[in-house]
Amino acid sequence: MAHYNGRLVELLLEAYQNATARIACPAQAEPKPGQYLQAHQPDQPLEVTPTALFRAGESHRARAGELNFPVAGPLPESWQPGAELKLRGPLGRGFELPRNLRRLALIALNNTPARLMPLIPIALQRGVEIVLVSDTSEGTLPLTVEQQRLAELPRALAWADFVAIDIPLEGLEELAERLVPKGRVRAPEGQILVFSPMPCGALAKCGVCSLTTKNGPRLACEDGPVFELKELI
Ligand code: FES
Repeated sequence: MAHYNGRLVELLLEAYQNATARIACPAQAEPKPGQYLQAHQPDQPLEVTPTALFRAGESHRARAGELNFPVAGPLPESWQPGAELKLRGPLGRGFELPRNLRRLALIALNNTPARLMPLIPIALQRGVEIVLVSDTSEGTLPLTVEQQRLAELPRALAWADFVAIDIPLEGLEELAERLVPKGRVRAPEGQILVFSPMPCGALAKCGVCSLTTKNGPRLACEDGPVFELKELI
């Protein structure tokens, strides 16, 4: 983890692009799928907390040593294209797909599938079949990625041999009910990104992002935000 200078390249329409903006930063700052960067503007007042930026798609090389990639929001309204950003990271634990994976279900139990999107090119490169389960996906997906609504979740769970989920912190109470529906005896194999406000990014241990796991209390900003599903069900 280190500090970098970056910039906001453009703002995007989230409903269409599954992302809020594109940023440019040094290649070493690139977060893996599920990891995040803490970002603020250099002249931001101290009382304004940094913003957690998650990668929402593939990175492209912009200039020598610099990458450009989409990020998931929400962003402060004051951020405008061209704005300089101070970045800290990459932070937290990201997704790790198992080696022998064949069928992957990406499940957005949040208001956007954006934070799951960087897993798509990685899985496709390995010949993995992918289903995206989301009620809000309107972005452009590779033709080989099947899209299903959340009403089809039981079917996707029966099909997949690994699931990658995005859920808001407050949605954890209903997680077991959604993933272990009647007739199913076990939770699926997989990992889950617990999305929460992360004002301090583990620096001050403020506890805003704390959650209870089978192994005791954890902080999403530091121990996650990606957890093994079996820790939470
Ligand atoms: S954001 Fe402060 S402890 Fe996680």
